[in-house]
Amino acid sequence: MTDRYAVIGHPVAHSKSPWIHAAFARQCGEDIDYGRIEAPPDGFVAAVRAFRASGGRGLNVTLPFKGEAFAYATRVSARAKRAQAVNTLVFGEEVVGDTTDGVGLVRDLDQNLAFPLRGRVILLVGAGGAAQGVAEALLEAGPATLTIANRTASKASELAKRFDCEGRAFGELAGRRFDLIVNATSAGLRGEAPALPSGVLERAGLAYDMVYGRATPFLVAARTSGVRASDGLGMLVEQAAESFYLWRAVRPRTAPVLEALRASA
Ligand code: ATR
Repeated sequence: MTDRYAVIGHPVAHSKSPWIHAAFARQCGEDIDYGRIEAPPDGFVAAVRAFRASGGRGLNVTLPFKGEAFAYATRVSARAKRAQAVNTLVFGEEVVGDTTDGVGLVRDLDQNLAFPLRGRVILLVGAGGAAQGVAEALLEAGPATLTIANRTASKASELAKRFDCEGRAFGELAGRRFDLIVNATSAGLRGEAPALPSGVLERAGLAYDMVYGRATPFLVAARTSGVRASDGLGMLVEQAAESFYLWRAVRPRTAPVLEALRASA
């Protein structure tokens, strides 16, 4: 029988995950079926139970359910525990929860963008779920420093304390230079950009927006200043590959899938 997987979220209508996992499955010769589950905001657990009852083997979890998935898992990985979020569920005797977002971001930077993080001076902008999910992986990649900055400065300090790095208000970044700035805010989804002090984005080596599929004001501002910039499509593909590996113990090649996605955009 074909093993079933899906992405669950609200909304998921435009999710590229089914396309990506179908491509991985073809490439690796794995017999899987990957769908999408649109769960109502208060219906996560019921939808997961129904999916498991119908033979579901695993789920990708996206907004707004990453915290609920963390609570639902009976065992979580160390990295998911520190991120307090789960984006991958594996259904076996136990329900194992893991998060592959951080690995996805670091692999995209390292392998697709040829931007290894060792020794770099990094700024992570944002202190919500997206930032929380990648902070540890960024630190583990061995940068010289990681600074977390957020519009609401108290949230940056809290997150920085948890990960033992520097937390700042936007205004405190004036005059600083970063090799890499990662935008982990949801500002781009509203057509806004984080209000970094003038000169900070303009002097960056690489500007990375975790949002994909749109030219966010952050990316546009970077490119206008001649700064190298990337959206988060590669991170999406890389986190998917890591989930696929957790489910199937096979690691798909991501480059051809990312290339095909970019070509179809
Ligand atoms: P997510 O899970 O996508 O991170 P979230 O937990 O709601 O969503 O967090 C959203 C993040 O984007 C926060 O860091 C938020 O900053 P505040 O904590 O100050 O609210 C940030 N954000 C959203 N819109 C922003 C904007 N226009 N400028 C700067 N930061 C913004």
